[in-house]
Amino acid sequence: MSNIEIMIPKEELFKRIKELGKQISEDYQGKTVKLICVLKGGIYFLTELSMNIDEDVPVELDFMAVSSYGNEQVSSGIVKIIKDLDEPIEGQDIIIIEDIIDSGNTLSYLINILWDRKPNSIEVCTLLDKPSRRVVDVEVKYCGFQVPDVFVLGFGLDVEQKYRNLPYIGKMVD
Ligand code: IMP
Ligand code: MG
Repeated sequence: MSNIEIMIPKEELFKRIKELGKQISEDYQGKTVKLICVLKGGIYFLTELSMNIDEDVPVELDFMAVSSYGNEQVSSGIVKIIKDLDEPIEGQDIIIIEDIIDSGNTLSYLINILWDRKPNSIEVCTLLDKPSRRVVDVEVKYCGFQVPDVFVLGFGLDVEQKYRNLPYIGKMVD
């Protein structure tokens, strides 16, 4: 059995995600918002968040898969697009949905790529943020929780592709 210590239980995650959904609903009144989920880590957050956005703010979804070249745990800032968006984003209001921001490399690269496609706006919504690890500055409008510099898992976050399905944020303990 792996020893996993729960850091943020499911109830707390869902409560905070509900608040984020409410905030987005208020900020996007009168607009349609497109949530761009960064696969695979963002999917659990995306589904819960999107169901907490009011029906008077129409939500569109699209997905992107990226991987950073080189060592998996220290991202290089050079991002390879594994799966691109299905639709153009020109003129649209975009929120990028991320599981966690660590160095900020992946996200800043992604934001640059997406601005080239001429959306009306781009904001970032991340479930977790590790601000102490930041290398590149990225503006994060919506953030669920700040976490310390430990490797976390669950609710979309993986350790070598495993444990994404855990309904809480945890960490490995020996
Ligand atoms: P960044 O480019 O350094 O900000 O890395 C972001 C990506 O690294 C995230 O989207 C995650 O996939 C992965 N990552 C960073 N920290 C963790 C962690 O603690 N657990 C699991 N994945 C992580
Ligand atoms: Mg990831």
